Amino acid sequence: MTVAERLILGQVLCFEGDPRKLGVESVRHETHGAVLIRDGLIAEVGEARALRAAHPEVPVTDHGADLILPGFIDAHVHYPQTAMIASWGKRLIDWLNSYTFPEEARFDDPAYAAEIANRYLDLLTANGTTTAASYCTIHPTSVDAFFEAAQSRNMRVLAGKTCMDRNAPDNLRDTAQSAYDDSRELLRKWHGTDRLSYVITPRFSPTSSPEQLSALGALWAEHPDCLMQTHLSEQTDEITWVRDLYPDARDYLDTYESHGLLGERGLYGHAIHLEPREIDRLADVGAAVVHCPTSNTFIGSGLFDMALADRMPVGLATDTGGGSSFSMLRTMAAAYEIGQLRGHALHPSELLWRATGGSAEALHLSDKIGRLAPGYEADLCILSLTSTPAIAQRATRADSIWEAVFPTIMMGDDRAIACTYIAGVPVKRT
Ligand code: GUN
Ligand code: ZN
Repeated sequence: MTVAERLILGQVLCFEGDPRKLGVESVRHETHGAVLIRDGLIAEVGEARALRAAHPEVPVTDHGADLILPGFIDAHVHYPQTAMIASWGKRLIDWLNSYTFPEEARFDDPAYAAEIANRYLDLLTANGTTTAASYCTIHPTSVDAFFEAAQSRNMRVLAGKTCMDRNAPDNLRDTAQSAYDDSRELLRKWHGTDRLSYVITPRFSPTSSPEQLSALGALWAEHPDCLMQTHLSEQTDEITWVRDLYPDARDYLDTYESHGLLGERGLYGHAIHLEPREIDRLADVGAAVVHCPTSNTFIGSGLFDMALADRMPVGLATDTGGGSSFSMLRTMAAAYEIGQLRGHALHPSELLWRATGGSAEALHLSDKIGRLAPGYEADLCILSLTSTPAIAQRATRADSIWEAVFPTIMMGDDRAIACTYIAGVPVKRT
């Protein structure tokens, strides 16, 4: 068997872990760095001259002064909302009813689901993102379409059938039993196949009956290696509605907790307006929350508190299409802006970590993706730090890697993505 090897050169940033905890000094920067890829995995990371000398026979791809990073990891998206992203003028519940549900109803058509799944994954790689955790629609076909599209590209993705049995249009409702049955069948079909993971996905408490939440809690108990994703405390109107729908619950999180849907492999999107008890419980069980900053400003939800990262894993996400961008650069910029509004300037190292290793940790994939280290999968983002005249003129003033990369975080878009590698293979941009 031939061994596929490639040595790629560029600037390299290596994170040992969360710089919020370890300090920015824990991040190693090589101006002339190299990553050796062997059979889709990272074999070595180091200084370019040393790696070239040690592996003189290996073909070289030189990315010059571009920055080699792990591919971005988007920890919460709705791929079916790709075609209605940036829809104007509504807040959460009206936005769901006016724009989201009519679009999601189209996914009973497998051809439409396949078209949007492929369009979404094209946009993802064009933006340097190599892994996403997606909600699908209530239709099993929408899950098949997404996993088939990702499988054909050898991408590591996570997804699940979105379950709803109330407070949604007739054509978007399942039942407690069919949600359990369909989710179980999809889980058995896809979970652990190639680079695909099934995620048990009740949309949120308002669109599930207590019976449906219990059924999905039971499914999770039967498959504890799966993740479970849902929404939590995104808008204050939503919280009031949850209180009316679940009068016995102590708080929003309790609607999940009391139905077997709170656990270490739980992923709770948004988590903005949390009560102290909810924060304590999430931290106690080791659950993760996901910050979706462009969504939180676009739908007018509120300002996430990044201090939660001191107590639990925090992933970063676009929340396509409640979020207003497919780009994790734009998402990091929005996280920075929300941090500023809360009085904390997030360091570029922390922003980059959240979009890579931090999201990997939230997804329980931190042994596989999100870092440049031997044994990790070679999903990479090659980032130009001079992609537009405005960014380039600012970057020439930089006297550290952090000053050099921050203008691209704040002002960059898909033009800054010089190349995206999936399992060691460069993917042509679309
Ligand atoms: N809460 C329940 N469903 C959704 C959704 O599709 N997007 C957002 N942003 N919040 C939700
Ligand atoms: Zn969402």
